[in-house]
Formats: sequence, structure tokens, C-alpha cells
Amino acid sequence: MHNVFPSTHPLVKHKLTKLRDQRTEPKKFRELVRELSALLIYEATADLTTHPVQVQTPLAAAQGEDLAEKIGLIPILRAGLGMVEGVWELMPSAEVWHIGMYRDERTLKPVAYYNKLPVHPTVGVCLILDPMLATGGSAVACVDILKNWGVSKIKYVGLIAAPEGIQRLQTAHPDVPIHVAAVDDHLDANGYIVPGLGDAGDRLFGT
Ligand code: PRP
Ligand code: URA
Repeated sequence: MHNVFPSTHPLVKHKLTKLRDQRTEPKKFRELVRELSALLIYEATADLTTHPVQVQTPLAAAQGEDLAEKIGLIPILRAGLGMVEGVWELMPSAEVWHIGMYRDERTLKPVAYYNKLPVHPTVGVCLILDPMLATGGSAVACVDILKNWGVSKIKYVGLIAAPEGIQRLQTAHPDVPIHVAAVDDHLDANGYIVPGLGDAGDRLFGT
């Protein structure tokens, strides 16, 4: 799979297994989503550009590197919210721009309901945060919004992807890398990922 990066890290596998478990309560579920998001973002940002800087240690001057691009975190509401904190801890200067979208239960098409992006882009790189890539409709619509905003460097970071969603996102936006904890088997008749973890938003927010 070109441009798809399922994590091979043992910690990710361990935490994802606990996350999937139906006995995992919302409090633990939120904690695991936060931790997994930090681990995944570490992998997803390995190619960010830096520029050289010099700092003074107590002993001498040291050559170092600074992140060169302004980063935007784009959580897709609701479930993407659960991923923000873990990522933001690693990148406290990132901007967070929320995109509100839900899947119509009957058509499974995304319905956009919140977008306060300013007219001109304020970031150079966008990291879309959404735990579930199911049919791919929400991710494609989100990338459409970000490209129309004027950002061309976009990555998708999620927890579980279905092959159907990967195919759809890659067909529409082959330039967007997909970083996930796992690629699952298939979608069921209701558009849920199997085996997946159920409804990510409901499990995060206890609804
Ligand atoms: C979930 C998930 C994604 C979407 C994925 O959100 O967080 O945004 O479904 O499905 P897709 O790939 O088929 O578009 P949902 O619509 O359930 O909304 P919620 O986060 O508000 O619960
Ligand atoms: N959204 C979810 O929360 N879970 C799925 O399996 C598919 C879409």
C-alpha cells in the first residue's frame, strides 16, 4: 500500500488492543486515545522540515534545529477531539482548527456543520486527526476543505482504517499520507469497521 503507514510499534499494538476491548470504559478509552495519538504523531511527523539554529548550553554553543513550518491540527468533530491533547503536548505551538462533520446514518455521507477557517491559510502543514477512516467520506471532504483553504501539505492521522476508506482517500487525494495504528478487515453493512472498536465518538464521550 503506497503512502499508507500502519504502525509496527509494539506499544501502539498493545494500546490499540486495550482500546478495542469492549470492557474498556470511557475514562481509560480517552487515556488510550491520547497516548496512541502521541505515538502516531511522532511517526507521522518524521519528515517535517527544520532549519538550523544555534543555542548556548552552559558549556558551549550547540548547533540545533527548529521546526520550519507552522503546523495546524485539524480534529474532525467529534471523535477527532480525543486525539488533540496527546498531539498538542508534543507540539504546543500548533494551531488547532476544528472541522465539524458527522456521517448521515442512512447515506453514510458526511454532513459538514462547523468550519471557522479564516479566509487565508495560517499554517503550512495540516495534520487531520480522526480516529476512524471508514468509508473515507469524512476524510476526503476534510482534505477538500483544507486544499480549498490553500494548504497543500496534508497528512491524515487516525487509529483504525478500513481498506475501503484507504482506497477512497487515496483515489481522491493520492498525495495525502495515511498514518494509522492498524488497517482492519472490512466495513459492515452499516459502515462500521470490523473488527474496529465500535463508535469512537460514543466510546470517547460516554454517549
Ligand atoms: C466517525 C469518525 C469519522 C467518521 C468516519 O464520526 O470519527 O469522522 O465517522 O466515517 P467515514 O470514513 O465513513 O466518513 P461520526 O460521523 O460517527 O461522528 P461523531 O464523531 O460526531 O460521532
Ligand atoms: N465511525 C466510527 O466511530 N466507527 C466506525 O467503525 C466507523 C465510523
